[in-house]
Amino acid sequence: MGIHGNGGRRHWQPLLLSGLAFFAGLMTSLFLKIETCKEVLRERSVEVEDPILCLKSQIEPDLKSLPSDFFTFHNKCREATPLAKVRSMLLDEIFDGVSPFEGFPSPHVAPFLRKESIKGWGSRAKVFDELLKEVRPQLIVELGTFLGASAIHMANLSQSMGLQTLILCIDDFRGWPGFRYTFKDIHQEHGQAMLYYQFLQNVITTNFTHAIIPVPFSTTSAMAKLCDVGIQADLIEVDAGHDFHSAWADINRAWALLRPGVGIMFGHDYYLRADNRGVGRAVNLFARLKGLHIQPHGSHWILRRPRPSARRSPVISDPEHVRSEKRKKRWQETSS
Ligand SMILES: C[S@@+](CC[C@H](N)C(=O)[O-])C[C@H]1O[C@@H](n2cnc3c(N)ncnc32)[C@H](O)[C@@H]1O
Repeated sequence: MGIHGNGGRRHWQPLLLSGLAFFAGLMTSLFLKIETCKEVLRERSVEVEDPILCLKSQIEPDLKSLPSDFFTFHNKCREATPLAKVRSMLLDEIFDGVSPFEGFPSPHVAPFLRKESIKGWGSRAKVFDELLKEVRPQLIVELGTFLGASAIHMANLSQSMGLQTLILCIDDFRGWPGFRYTFKDIHQEHGQAMLYYQFLQNVITTNFTHAIIPVPFSTTSAMAKLCDVGIQADLIEVDAGHDFHSAWADINRAWALLRPGVGIMFGHDYYLRADNRGVGRAVNLFARLKGLHIQPHGSHWILRRPRPSARRSPVISDPEHVRSEKRKKRWQETSS
């Protein structure tokens, strides 16, 4: 018999029962909150993997009035194709089974190419090295390749780490209207610049034809195809269109291609002024809706796919965002 005897036990039992009832009530209310939150997001076609992150997701009143099309992206891709089959499957699906490097360059193209012409923007930034070391990716998808500067840099990094990484380079290889003002060395014929051919030549010159596969289409159609054939990437770099709508669509579509639980998506030009900071706005909105943490890194941004147990706060630690919020507050204070 304990020191309190039967009387003491009688005293503890109701306390224990009410404690259990309180805990059960707490869990039920948390469960109901999560279900309501999921329902609200479902109405807007936003999928959040982690229930706790759902509570942290923010759909603001002005966003609620937008049609759900704005948030609806295909997000269920085919079951992952085994890595060993990816190369041959893509060559079959995109290039009739023949490598685009085979027999390159043809005689009508060769005279117009430089042995190597690799120009990019922030294409060798420290973020590449850090993320490759962190992820040790087997498969990378790059949106926006241009002459291949960042893709070739990643191929170099993975080779020096002893990895056998495959890099899929999605680009329509058309650049943008007027890009030849600064890239006159890229030959143009009948209004068609030889960007794609120069990219192929760069990959051949740097000896990375085994590691890099071009996917020479628009990001939209290319990602739809990759999703259909079960491509799951460990790392995705987003650096194609830099206006809000292009970046918004690319980020949403690319998210579906990330390997569950481990994938990291990152991109360039987080602070770029184009389209009123279109890239930054798209990244911020996506992170807010998904309840994700944005890690700015130089001029890059990083988003990590949450592990099931992740409990991160959706804080936007974007210094530019914080500064502009402070400016807005000061302006409101002085004008009131
Ligand atoms: C800034 S460059 C990429 C630079 C490259 N990541 C580097 O660091 O060297 C942007 C590229 O995106 C491509 N691009 C833009 N919008 C695209 C779209 N909707 N579909 C496919 N490619 C696109 C352009 O052709 C251009 O080559």
